[in-house]
Amino acid sequence: MQSYEQQGNIIFHGDSVNVLRNHISSASVDLIFIDPPYNIGKKFGDFHDQWDSEEEYINWSYQWLNECIRILKPNGTLYLMTSTQAMPYFDIYVRKELTILSRIVWHYDSSGVQAKKYFGSMYEPILHCVKNKNDYTFNADDIKVEAKTGSQRKLIDYRKSVPTPYNTEKVPGNAWYFPRVRYRMEEYENHPTQKPESLLERIILASSNQDSLILDPFAGTFTTAAVAKQLGRKTISIELQKEYLKIGLRRVFGWQEYEGERLLSPDKNHKIRNKHGKNIECEFRQGSIFDANITS
Ligand SMILES: C[S@@+](CC[C@H](N)C(=O)[O-])C[C@H]1O[C@@H](n2cnc3c(N)ncnc32)[C@H](O)[C@@H]1O
Repeated sequence: MQSYEQQGNIIFHGDSVNVLRNHISSASVDLIFIDPPYNIGKKFGDFHDQWDSEEEYINWSYQWLNECIRILKPNGTLYLMTSTQAMPYFDIYVRKELTILSRIVWHYDSSGVQAKKYFGSMYEPILHCVKNKNDYTFNADDIKVEAKTGSQRKLIDYRKSVPTPYNTEKVPGNAWYFPRVRYRMEEYENHPTQKPESLLERIILASSNQDSLILDPFAGTFTTAAVAKQLGRKTISIELQKEYLKIGLRRVFGWQEYEGERLLSPDKNHKIRNKHGKNIECEFRQGSIFDANITS
């Protein structure tokens, strides 16, 4: 295990159960975002996300979950993701120690091949939990979204003494749409399950404040720490794989070199083919019109 620190942000390169158990104090963290391996056979560097049985995966998960609950402050918040099939175990287990405030569905657009003989999976579940349901952070004003019907039709509330336009902003419900991170997007890193910055931004704005301490025990591309840092929070991140550690050192600390190796972001200039098979040069950006139209 090795650790790195810069301006209140800490990165541990090692196994999360070991780091959580031996290096992080009880009741010390304001917000924990957990996006573990899902036991669905992804390759994370030389780590294969596949346990011999569901029971082994769940038992391993309970180890880091117990540690995270210990580490969470009494007024802290914990967000927990896993596969749709494993989530029922987690949902029942956390209720012993935490209150589940919301069962969030993160749904996204289709990319790649779609199922043809059943309804393909287009969402991932997220539990939003707190230790004390009477004392927790929820910055409703920081995450409001436009309520489409009201804003489009500019409705006026005539029940008020002075007729006033309806408030067009609301706290989002528990079904969240954010596009998945794709090769073409500005934020893309080389990792199979990178989470979008927009998803983490909503979580961090809602459930933490300036200078809050945020923990991500399965950092991957360090989306949590990168967004948290931009928002003026402090972070602790843990990641097992060296190739992803290097992403974190670049993305969170701004390092340009590690052990003599240049740390470069993925090249965002790609050669793609148009529908006639001709190569065209294109710089992709998030939200680009090319997202919908071109298969690379
Ligand atoms: C689902 S990904 C997290 C993705 C991340 N949220 C992001 O936005 O990029 C899970 C990560 O956990 C890492 N990992 C797997 N086992 C680990 C362990 N025992 N300790 C620490 N990290 C581990 C994997 O290498 C992988 O990067």
